[in-house]
Amino acid sequence: LNEETATMANTLTRLYPWLTNPAIISAPMLGAATPALAANVTKAGDLGFIAGGTRLDTLEIALQETAKLTRTLNSHRKDTIPIGVGFQLFNSKPSTATAAFSKLAPAVAWLFAPAKAADLAEWARGIREATAGKTHIWVQIGTVAEARLAVELAEPEVLVVQGSDAGGHGLARSASVISLVPEVKDMLASIGRADLPILAAGGITDGRGVAAALALGAAGVVMGTRFLAASEAGIAAGWQNEITRLGDGGVSTTRSTLCDRLKETKGWPAWYDGRAAINKGHEDEKGGMTDDANVALYKDELKRGDSAWGSHGRMVTYAGTGVGLIHDVKPAAAIVKDVRSQARACLERVAETYGRGKAVSRL
Ligand SMILES: Cc1cc2nc3c(=O)[nH]c(=O)nc-3n(C[C@H](O)[C@H](O)[C@H](O)COP(=O)(O)O)c2cc1C
Repeated sequence: LNEETATMANTLTRLYPWLTNPAIISAPMLGAATPALAANVTKAGDLGFIAGGTRLDTLEIALQETAKLTRTLNSHRKDTIPIGVGFQLFNSKPSTATAAFSKLAPAVAWLFAPAKAADLAEWARGIREATAGKTHIWVQIGTVAEARLAVELAEPEVLVVQGSDAGGHGLARSASVISLVPEVKDMLASIGRADLPILAAGGITDGRGVAAALALGAAGVVMGTRFLAASEAGIAAGWQNEITRLGDGGVSTTRSTLCDRLKETKGWPAWYDGRAAINKGHEDEKGGMTDDANVALYKDELKRGDSAWGSHGRMVTYAGTGVGLIHDVKPAAAIVKDVRSQARACLERVAETYGRGKAVSRL
């Protein structure tokens, strides 16, 4: 296992030479993951993502901005911008990615939520052709079966394993990373792909979560919710306040499709829902309120701005179960640095207590 973990970490730093181990990646989050957030995560020795969205002009502007912001970085492949771009496949077209990337290629394209699995192959092929293979393919999956299909269809350079604790959208039926990561690893070993780096996502917001993910066999982690409380995050102050206020994420958040219905977001495949903080909208739904009435109240509250966030309100607060470990807003670079040093300290503590030849192992 040690050898495999070292191989995966080495693969990551060979593919992305500016990466520091363990990798702490910021997730593509539409609107929230700004070019500044992605660039600052990369500059801190990791890899930041923006979300591709559905519009070519907006994507091109975001790519130009990230290129400008990361210009000073010396230790990366000069043929790509050292950031990644995430796409939700069910509502975007591969032509948006290929048109933008043939001008400015990011290091990574992240594929998520295809309407049908075969779309993964089309996207991966199109992006690799448009960028002569410079842009790597990462796929975010949520089950062992999805992982196997993704490897077969898209031949990704990295697999992101998203567990049920994740904030935002994910599979309605899924396991937490605690069992999903090792089971995906076992499956990969069974098909001769133990070398494929995997990253754990979902509920990880501090260094202890990173240390656990590494122990499970991941080469690093992806964090979304933690970066919602980055100074560079492009979200409303009301939402960000909620991220630092909420605790006990297993009960303060829930998985549901209500937020899509409230925001009138269409097209998510039926097997996805989203994890967000529980508020008045959820309570009213439980009490029998119709969607029409709930949407009308939601729209009304939108006008109140930041004060409409909170358990008393109806605003959509996407957040993972790790939200209770987030107490402050700080620059993305500080988040990365603090989480990484906490992870290292945690691993050292565990090795000191349980490592070979240590007191506990002699019991
Ligand atoms: C506000 C928000 C928006 C997200 N948007 C996307 C997205 O556009 N594309 C995507 O692949 N994943 C998206 N995700 C999911 C992340 O990729 C990741 O799986 C998740 O944030 C990990 O769990 P955590 O939030 O507990 O760290 C989003 C997550 C959040 C919280």
